Amino acid sequence: MSNPAARVNELRTQIRDHNYRYYVLSDPIITDIEYDALMHELQALEDAHPELITPDSPTKRIGSDVSDDLAKVEHPAPVLSLGNAQDLEEVRAWRERIGRLLTPDTVLDYVVEPKFDGLTIVLTYVDGVLVLGATRGNGQVGDDVTHNVRTIRSIPLRIPVNPDGPQPPPRLVVRGEVLFLKKDFEAVNRVQVEQGLPRYVNARNTASGTLKQKDSRVTASRPLTAFVYSIMDAVGQVPDTQQGSLAYLRDLGFPLVDEIRYFTDFEDMLDYLANFDRDSLPYEIDGLVIKINANAVYRELGVVGRDPRGALAYKFPSQEATTTLLDVQANVGRTGVLTPTAILEPVFLSGVTVKQASLHNYDLIAEKDIRIGDRVIVKRSGDVIPYVVGPVMGSRTGDEIIITPPSRCPVCDSPVERLEGEVAYYCTNPACPERIARNIEFFVSRSAMDIVGLGEQGVRLLLEKDLITDEADIFALQADDLLALEGFAEKKVENLLASIVAAKDRPLARLLGSLGIRGVGGTIAVLLVNHFHTLDAIAVATPEELEAVEGLGPILAETIAGWFSEPRNQQLITKLKAAGVRMEEKPEEPIADTLAGLTFVLTGTLPTLKRDEAKTLIESHGGKISSSVSKKTSYVVVGDAAGSKLTKAQQLNIPILDEPGLLALIEVAQ
Ligand code: IVH
Repeated sequence: MSNPAARVNELRTQIRDHNYRYYVLSDPIITDIEYDALMHELQALEDAHPELITPDSPTKRIGSDVSDDLAKVEHPAPVLSLGNAQDLEEVRAWRERIGRLLTPDTVLDYVVEPKFDGLTIVLTYVDGVLVLGATRGNGQVGDDVTHNVRTIRSIPLRIPVNPDGPQPPPRLVVRGEVLFLKKDFEAVNRVQVEQGLPRYVNARNTASGTLKQKDSRVTASRPLTAFVYSIMDAVGQVPDTQQGSLAYLRDLGFPLVDEIRYFTDFEDMLDYLANFDRDSLPYEIDGLVIKINANAVYRELGVVGRDPRGALAYKFPSQEATTTLLDVQANVGRTGVLTPTAILEPVFLSGVTVKQASLHNYDLIAEKDIRIGDRVIVKRSGDVIPYVVGPVMGSRTGDEIIITPPSRCPVCDSPVERLEGEVAYYCTNPACPERIARNIEFFVSRSAMDIVGLGEQGVRLLLEKDLITDEADIFALQADDLLALEGFAEKKVENLLASIVAAKDRPLARLLGSLGIRGVGGTIAVLLVNHFHTLDAIAVATPEELEAVEGLGPILAETIAGWFSEPRNQQLITKLKAAGVRMEEKPEEPIADTLAGLTFVLTGTLPTLKRDEAKTLIESHGGKISSSVSKKTSYVVVGDAAGSKLTKAQQLNIPILDEPGLLALIEVAQ
């Protein structure tokens, strides 16, 4: 910006407005991360242009969450905050800054902890008994929330928790963070929905509201968690390093996370920061905190404003942003399922511009009361497709449009149906062009018939040029047809045709799982093949005969029989047979035994593979799937929102794989 004074004024006006909305109206319209970004920009401008600093600048004021209803308590020492670094360069700059303040021979070591996205809690223990729990408030005076803190099970009421633990000093003041674990926040929202109440959008605000309840029964009914991370004050002997303090707090029985690392080498620490995987944690964090380990050095460095120089928050790029919901489109999937997709005003989010986001299903849209024209919070974590968290109610103008599920398929205009017990709406037309395209795309994909060299675009092109009308036509493709297409050079066509020939001989279970029969993934396909041995036998089986297969319920049996009774599908099978695709069990299934002897546990949502697809993939390579983690587990495959299985794996030191890791393992093993 060419005019810093104008920008400073603009930022101050915006920040004041957001403060008012946050603290007075309790109705913020931007995310905490966006707020921090505004503050950060203002601070940077003031640092660069000290002449622009005014005493009433928002940077000179400590935000206050003091509530009028609760008793006030004075903190024994200021409850300090943290300076921020947005990238590794800023972490280096911090290291250089503090280096200049210390004698040249000072050797530094560091502790790195998660920066929990919750709210500060200050806990006071006298002679080992919890006597006070207070919020941060304005840093000097906080709210007395002892009655609520006592309901949080992870916070000890008496220390040491284990009688063999160390003796606590006569007075100990500990600082920590109160938050919801990801799974617990989901549970809170499930209860809200069951009671017909709106979902909470922001876990941190909900935790804050929960902790500041006057009626502690409300707090007790919600699964809050706490983790502690420092000793704020003590009368008596306590350790003189951060590492020692954490170990001591753990020994006393306080809740601490495992994700705490000690570094003597600064570059090693930067490496750790750069490669940290926040998505696999069971709790939300917005960064990592670097702390100088030696308390003496930490104290010597002192405090600037409200930030100690001896600690620094390394903030991750924002995962959340607010933008406008312009429209909602229904996307048709291969089973006909209509998935609502949000069309967004483009917004920059952790490194990419997001224009579309998932809205999951129409029930959730209604539950969250999302409307077209709303300002919405969009979130992106890991490789997961961005999704809409919820609307910002405070930005409503009244002109927003309520979203209703379509009554006709947006592609083929056939009626839409909703099945008993399912949230999804389906296009009822098995010949819907979009369903056909999606089915063929699935058929050729890696986890299905694995026809290499033919992706989504290729399939669309072949359909457009009338070279195929269904899956079976792929086996009749000729080199000349393909060579005439844009982007299909000689070598590519040669490889593709070779792959098509190879696909004719895939194991029957693989073919069956590739047909896109609703509910028939790899595992069910294997069960069916083991029972019936040929596709013809499966095709003529009655629902009763199908139900006799162990693992198959009546609904699935009905779906399978229904699928094979469709003339269109019967014709497809006939054509596949005529094309020479194998229709019988191969004597030596599974496909490969590259994962033989290995046991896998799956947890969380993988970015591209569905759970049953991952299962088939592993099983078809000879690996085993288990539902719980034990010492016998070879690998835990972790996706988004992984839960306690991940924690267990970490405790048992079981190797952890993400989806690319799993695919690489299979690849390498082959
Ligand atoms: S240390 C003087 N450690 O981050 C030390 N803070 O912007 C200051 N926070 O309000 C705090 N995790 O609530 C520290 N491992 C951690 C933390 C942490 C989260 C929060 C804290 C504070 C904010 C600082």
